[in-house]
Amino acid sequence: MSGKIRVGVIGTGMMGYEHINNLKLMPEVEITALADPTDHMLGLGKSMLGPAGSNVATFSTGEALLDANLVDAVVIASPNFTHHDVLQPVFKKGVHVLCEKPLCTTPEDAARIRDQAASHSGVFWVGMEYRFMPPATEFVTRVHRGDVGRLVMVSIREHRFPFLQKVNDWNRFSANTGGTMVEKCCHFFDLMRHIIQSEPTRVYCSGNMDVNHQDERYDGRKPDIIDNSFTVVDFANGTRAMLDLCMFAEGAEHQEEISATGDKARLDVLIPPGDMVMSPRVGFRNPKQVTRETIPVDPVALEAGSHFGATYYQQRAWIDAILTGAPVQVTAQDGLQAVRMGAAAELSAATGRAIDMAEIAGG
Ligand SMILES: NC(=O)c1ccc[n+]([C@@H]2O[C@H](COP(=O)([O-])OP(=O)(O)OC[C@H]3O[C@@H](n4cnc5c(N)ncnc54)[C@H](O)[C@@H]3O)[C@@H](O)[C@H]2O)c1
Repeated sequence: MSGKIRVGVIGTGMMGYEHINNLKLMPEVEITALADPTDHMLGLGKSMLGPAGSNVATFSTGEALLDANLVDAVVIASPNFTHHDVLQPVFKKGVHVLCEKPLCTTPEDAARIRDQAASHSGVFWVGMEYRFMPPATEFVTRVHRGDVGRLVMVSIREHRFPFLQKVNDWNRFSANTGGTMVEKCCHFFDLMRHIIQSEPTRVYCSGNMDVNHQDERYDGRKPDIIDNSFTVVDFANGTRAMLDLCMFAEGAEHQEEISATGDKARLDVLIPPGDMVMSPRVGFRNPKQVTRETIPVDPVALEAGSHFGATYYQQRAWIDAILTGAPVQVTAQDGLQAVRMGAAAELSAATGRAIDMAEIAGG
């Protein structure tokens, strides 16, 4: 590709801004177009570009942006329930795409996109930022190289703040998001598959909306999104994983705690601050040999978003894939599997049953 990659951002809300902020740091990129149906948000997106904003073309839909032939690539950061339709003109044009998670709100839609992506001429990449937080990336590398021995258990805890307010409050209802286990937890289900390198076979989830959003009403309707849950996932290779989610625990020291335990050691990563803690087995009553180090994150990347530098490193990898043909690290199949696991967890929480993954469409 000669010259800069011309990138358009579709959806200039909170995550769109974070993408714009990070794209500005990529020397090979020029942001040429923005699309958003909400004038106010489009204006804010434009203003984030500073003086360069006066040259950027703006559109009210992704389709109009693509029809203008001003881009080689797009980032899709519109609400979850729009991803399926926003992607259709992207497939027609064949431009490179980074589509924010979750790929879609239902396994059926995500499977359709996976099939379309199979013959897409551009790079198709699903936004799974958590893989790209440097401490998480390093954690996965160490597990894969055998630091814990034969991996047996993976545990992920996210204890954080409640869902933020979104444009037109789309994130208050499962029909728009896929439900919390899809919307938020697709990240962690993707991480489980990435760490374990196997496919899920069964999911059991106990969860409910017990604390947040109780007094909120939208056109008279109360939100219906889980705010706390425990989920257990069995994998085909025998590894088991657990997700502990709480969305009313913003006071917790670490937002994410990920542990991998094998037959030789346990490895933990704690974010923030990005500490890696290694605890080898030492036998009963012997002195422990715990070591702790902090994995550094480029302060520029940290500053450019609210995901511990992840958006920067993910964009870097996406752009490298566009420029060099480097392998896509988060494929449409990965995006589909994360949605399927989330849908299984939602179904499990609603019915009280353990869900066989074969029950979920798209397998
Ligand atoms: N990877 C992450 O960690 C992460 C974090 C936050 C959000 N997200 C994802 O990013 C996406 C956007 O979330 P957000 O928090 O920015 O929401 P938001 O409500 O702040 O912004 C969404 C924007 O999309 C616009 N929009 C609505 N319909 C559109 C359409 N059909 N085409 C183009 N734009 C449209 C809205 O006007 C709004 O400006 C969601 O899919 C969300 O799940 C990912």
